[in-house]
Amino acid sequence: MEISTEVDLAPYNTLGVHAIANYFCKVANLSELRQALGFAKEKNLPVKIIGGGSNILVSGDYPGVIVQLALLSIEWLNDEGLVRVGAGENWHEFVAHCLEKGAHGLENLALIPGTVGAAPIQNIGAYGVECEQFIVSVQVYDQQQQAVVEFTREECEFSYRDSIFKYEGARHFVVLAVTFQLHRDWKVNINYGALAEELSALDNVSHKDVFDAVCKIRRSKLPDPKFIGNAGSFFKNPLISLSKYQALKTEYPQIPGYEVAEPGLIKTSAAWLLDQAGWKGKRRGGAGVHSEHALVIVNADDASGDELLLLAQEMASSILTKYGIALETEVQIL
Ligand code: EPU
Repeated sequence: MEISTEVDLAPYNTLGVHAIANYFCKVANLSELRQALGFAKEKNLPVKIIGGGSNILVSGDYPGVIVQLALLSIEWLNDEGLVRVGAGENWHEFVAHCLEKGAHGLENLALIPGTVGAAPIQNIGAYGVECEQFIVSVQVYDQQQQAVVEFTREECEFSYRDSIFKYEGARHFVVLAVTFQLHRDWKVNINYGALAEELSALDNVSHKDVFDAVCKIRRSKLPDPKFIGNAGSFFKNPLISLSKYQALKTEYPQIPGYEVAEPGLIKTSAAWLLDQAGWKGKRRGGAGVHSEHALVIVNADDASGDELLLLAQEMASSILTKYGIALETEVQIL
């Protein structure tokens, strides 16, 4: 395993921000991961583990060791859709592979950028499905105990774009593999408005139809990081109290509101709020807001991490002023 010095992180974050990491290495197995962590410990340097870099904003040079996980393996454990997947596998390719195998459930999550290991960390979700629904367990390396530990789904404490792995006190866990239970017989989930609309002409909707429709919708409004640097939704959809929602609704009758499991709370749409506040297509230096989706910050012209962060702060503060809602970032700031 090679540990490189002074590495430009632009190819390793989908926002394409240039920043220098003191050290960088790619690890292909547990023993290499241990070596990389040992190296950082010896030099007393911080470590950041990354996957596809599709949910991070690199705000400046990194003084420690960036470790990219390249743990690759897909093991089907039985014929009933139980599968254990290495953290470094590409998420979308894994979803496509499941479809080919006739193992269903993940088709709504097609085309989400990033790796399998990143999926449970923020409980990725789209078009009415969250990955937690199919997760049986998550295998992690515990840097404190220096041991491999398996977390059951319950122990992961999943919620909307959240899990135990995002907590401050969970920094010592590195996701190694995820076990999913998929299904041969699975009723297609087409409850999400935009998806139902896209498929409305079909009588019998197959899992492949759902996969194709999700790809089509995503391609039409979300920029491809290969061409325009971005990290998907930059902010989470905010949860607000029912009374606050009702008050806003009298002033803004169009404001979207979705019921959630927590009683007394409503989830509203960050994209809608930002769109109404005029953010679509706005530019601040090299940083910009996507012209088709107000929740997506783009690297329009060689933006620095600082520039992107300043734009995000300006967007959030305008929403606080206009609606009294504090947006939280979905993207992790490094
Ligand atoms: N909308 C606007 N203006 C816009 C974009 C959207 O008013 O510029 C409105 C739409 O009309 C719709 C609502 O906002 O009523 C929701 O829009 P959309 O369906 O695009 O979904 P979203 O809530 O903005 C969430 C996830 C996405 C996921 C989609 C589809 C979050 C933070 N984002 O976006 O996830 O793909 O739903 O399920 O939950 C990501 O996490 O990176 C991501 C892209």
